[in-house]
Amino acid sequence: MKKNQEKLFIEQQADAYFDRNFTKGIQAASKEHKIIQLIKTIDLPKTGNLIDLGGAVGSVAAGIIKICPDWKGTVLEPSQKATKAGSKIFPWIDFICGSVAKKKDMPNKVFDLAIISMVFSWIDRSLLSQAIANIDSLVKPSGYIIIRDFYTPFPRANNYHHKDGIFTYKQDYTSPFKSLNIYTEIYRESGPVKHSNFDNNDPYDDWTLTSVLQKDLFDRYRRNIIK
Ligand SMILES: C[S@@+](CC[C@H](N)C(=O)[O-])C[C@H]1O[C@@H](n2cnc3c(N)ncnc32)[C@H](O)[C@@H]1O
Repeated sequence: MKKNQEKLFIEQQADAYFDRNFTKGIQAASKEHKIIQLIKTIDLPKTGNLIDLGGAVGSVAAGIIKICPDWKGTVLEPSQKATKAGSKIFPWIDFICGSVAKKKDMPNKVFDLAIISMVFSWIDRSLLSQAIANIDSLVKPSGYIIIRDFYTPFPRANNYHHKDGIFTYKQDYTSPFKSLNIYTEIYRESGPVKHSNFDNNDPYDDWTLTSVLQKDLFDRYRRNIIK
């Protein structure tokens, strides 16, 4: 029987990711981090608020607040271990223990910037559209979404090497947002990264895509001026 990927992640794998990656210490993301570099190129307001979905211990949120000190940060993350450890190191960041795929876990406010980095590829396919709707509902008009994930031109489902029954789903996660026609893609970069090599016969196996989408609820529609 197919296992529910959401349940496996929430109950085990989110904490397992924390155990594998953060036992040696927690730091704010450095200036060299791809998302921090990207932030400097976006025309963000001086004050604002961001949410990092699946933001683990809050390193990326803390790195952004370092360069945008008047911003407020929220991290939504299913790992109890990660949210507990993160809130000790970065007490100025709000941590929510929850899943981006659950409507009830979403904070009841909107943000200037939502980040979802290396998370979509593990969302249970039955909950993907709910996760997309949840993210859209968190973004203010003119606000931004940064999406970073594995990218392949045609969908792939690779076995997750840390746990049987989980798949790493690779595809273009910007497409559903762009199909709504309320987001303009203002930055897009794709290409190989060194750390992934599941299938050496697949030329796109080690590709990621980083994209910045800006919400525009008005001007993307050409309005008919004839009455
Ligand atoms: C590969 S890590 C990426 C961490 C961080 N976003 C980054 O880019 O460094 C994947 C993260 O997604 C989280 N995650 C998994 N399923 C999730 C879900 N349904 N909702 C939110 N986060 C989830 C994991 O617990 C983990 O912290």
